[in-house]
Amino acid sequence: MITAYIALGSNVGDRERHLDQGLRGLRAAPGVEVVRVSSWIETAFVGDGPEQGPFLNGAAELRTTLSPTALLGVMRALEREAGRASPHPRNHPRELDLDLIFFGDERIDQRELQVPHPRWHEREFVCAPLRELGVDVEARPRDVRPEVIHDAGALTTRVAEWAAGGCSIGLVPTMGSLHDGHASLIRAARAQCDRVLVTVFVNPLQFGADEDFEAYPRDLERDLAVCKAAGCDALFAPAGAHMISDGFASHVGTGPEATGMEGALRAGHFSGVATIVARLFAMTRPQRAYFGEKDAQQLAVVRRMRADLGFAVEVVACPIVREPDGLAMSSRNVYLCGDDRAAATVLFRALTAAEQRFRGGARDRDGLIAAARQVLDAEPRCAVDYVELRRERDLAPLPSGDVDGVRMLVAARFCGGERPVRLLDNLAWSTGGEV
Ligand code: PAJ
Repeated sequence: MITAYIALGSNVGDRERHLDQGLRGLRAAPGVEVVRVSSWIETAFVGDGPEQGPFLNGAAELRTTLSPTALLGVMRALEREAGRASPHPRNHPRELDLDLIFFGDERIDQRELQVPHPRWHEREFVCAPLRELGVDVEARPRDVRPEVIHDAGALTTRVAEWAAGGCSIGLVPTMGSLHDGHASLIRAARAQCDRVLVTVFVNPLQFGADEDFEAYPRDLERDLAVCKAAGCDALFAPAGAHMISDGFASHVGTGPEATGMEGALRAGHFSGVATIVARLFAMTRPQRAYFGEKDAQQLAVVRRMRADLGFAVEVVACPIVREPDGLAMSSRNVYLCGDDRAAATVLFRALTAAEQRFRGGARDRDGLIAAARQVLDAEPRCAVDYVELRRERDLAPLPSGDVDGVRMLVAARFCGGERPVRLLDNLAWSTGGEV
């Protein structure tokens, strides 16, 4: 026999009758004993969802020989018997809501069942009835999300548990120092996947010897806050040895996507990216992985690697998130001195100037590049590395002459601060509108 606690709620029709009927159903279920029931309390509806009447809430202590899944099955059947539609739209009014809060000391993390209930401690309409039943709510385990995982073995265990519980996994690989651009990836994953895993790892394989690996901004506490706000379930922040062991030798090669632009300026960079992303795919086996169009060339390299190595993951591209003045968000923006920060808007201004030309009917590849160059050259603080027009998606080079669906990519350095800061930006357009 296991002691379980459930929360009951109703905000449609004869609420008390629905709750009583639910309890009667539980008493009648084989293998379930209702030990104690709290009094009912009235609570206003909180959360997003349509406007709706107040809830009548309470809690019950059960003893059961059923498995957690079987008990949940009984509870769902009773909800349906009370007239609740199944599937039920999220946060809509309901005749009967039965939530499994605790099942002994078990921790369960499956698609349909999370125990302890992930938000029980945030809800006074759950805590108050539990206290009435004599539960020491302060001493009870709380599900802290995101769970921070440092150890590769612990990550494997968590991911295996999610997979066994039927959860789809959304992976958001990052190097930390998270901003709204990263948060948009996490939110996209939250909307599409059962569990969201963010990784924070400043990957030494993708930094050249003369690059800013040591100086790359790191702030795990802030990253945790961004992850929490965006709805991440677990944050994997491994020590280097968990990702790249001594003697690590298997580097992923790259092809045409990695030549030119960043590939030409940062030898070995994309092989380092592809290697670590492949390693993350292998460790976490996600259904979907989220990447920003901000790093369009990286996205093309990752797509190629995924297809070539046959990872069963959908690579999801997310649009660039910008500051109000157009500057693409980047972890490196914090290193821009004040004047460079103001000057850095020139990247987006150059891209939109070329786009305007295109929309005005200009099609010539070199003419469009020249339009962007003209804007960049007018900003003396900006040292341009490249401006290129490439075919959308795989970023294959385009011959001179007229172009159609394209992505324009720029990279430039701003050197007025303590250290030079390299920034990337890009914009896609086509004759059919935005691509
Ligand atoms: P990082 O620079 O931290 O970026 C992580 C992800 O966030 C990338 O997919 C990137 O394109 C996306 N991103 C960054 N700024 C963005 C913005 N302003 N709008 C939308 N998305 C944005 O890219 C890396 O880390 C690493 O190379 C990594 C893939 C993690 C491999 O080490």
